Amino acid sequence: MFDTKILGTDEDSIAYAAKLLSQGEVVGMPTETVYGLAANAFDEAAVRKIFAAKGRPADNPLIVHISDISQLEGLVDRIPPLAVKCAEKFWAGPLTMIMPKSEKIPMVTSGGLDTVGIRMPSHKVARALISACGFPIAAPSANLSGSPSPTTAQHVLNDMHGRIPAIIDGGACGVGVESTVISFEGEDGIRLLRPGFISAEDLMEITPNVLIDKGVLEKLGENVKVRSPGMKYKHYAPKADVTIIDSSLEAFREYVKTHADNDTTLMVFTDSDCEGLDIPHICYGANDEEQAKELFDVLRELDIIGAKKVYARCPNKDGVGLAVYNRLLRAAGFQVVKL
Ligand code: TXA
Ligand code: MG
Repeated sequence: MFDTKILGTDEDSIAYAAKLLSQGEVVGMPTETVYGLAANAFDEAAVRKIFAAKGRPADNPLIVHISDISQLEGLVDRIPPLAVKCAEKFWAGPLTMIMPKSEKIPMVTSGGLDTVGIRMPSHKVARALISACGFPIAAPSANLSGSPSPTTAQHVLNDMHGRIPAIIDGGACGVGVESTVISFEGEDGIRLLRPGFISAEDLMEITPNVLIDKGVLEKLGENVKVRSPGMKYKHYAPKADVTIIDSSLEAFREYVKTHADNDTTLMVFTDSDCEGLDIPHICYGANDEEQAKELFDVLRELDIIGAKKVYARCPNKDGVGLAVYNRLLRAAGFQVVKL
């Protein structure tokens, strides 16, 4: 058991966190997407501590974070030409690229795969921490496995209290959903494995050949080969039974009027969605970007208020909206009512 410390973002705090990391400990770290649970990507024992703290299955690989493009070469065996283009356009930023891993990345870090996901975050504190360490940092989202990803230091503390020695408090994350994860196919193909702030439309500026993996929008069957192991696990689920209502605002309002009971909470975009409806509700943003930023906080809030049954309005399925929809779909256990 640790007495988990909350650290600031000043130089001394970052130096202290870097020291902990170089000693093989695990530290909560802010990034522009969500908070990460950081450890030295080269240190197998340290990486095992991440899996233990989260209760994460050992076959779910970790993303390796770098602060400078020069670090990339030693970590991967081959850099696909499209990866160079993506790095130029989207790094530093919320994009993770899967590439063949070099021997330097331990199998524990890559979840037993011969590939590794690399990301160069844009968050100042994350970059300062990685630079201060001098080694790349393996970091999954800093939630307990299965819970919504943390977008504030308080969320991390709620999940990781006593499990890790320290959390750097860098305030609320700007993006709010985890990075876009992609792999490369052939000479000019990109496969979108997890949608994020860098949208499919953004990626199409690199190549028209962007394929959205089946796992983004569908529940994969037991025997399907999963390209991104994280997709097969239960995720983001609040205790409440969540159903997405895929419909116009009018149809949503009609539906909840007839289906809501005393246990119902509505998850809507703005107060005006519920005008005249006498049902408790929770709002998470008027546009895709706001919804991405607020989604995980609202999912955690549902547990705090003890929500039992939730009807959620359906986010957009393009742009950043696709990332929100992808996460909400998992929170809802893929329950969608299409009207
Ligand atoms: O924004 C983010 O990506 C955050 C911050 C902390 O950087 N990290 C994050 O990590 O979301 P995590 O572990 O919660 O999600 C990583 C996802 C998982 O779905 C995992 O299966 C997938 O990326 N992934 C990682 N390495 C992979 C690989 N080599 N092949 C396929 N999928 C991979
Ligand atoms: Mg995660």
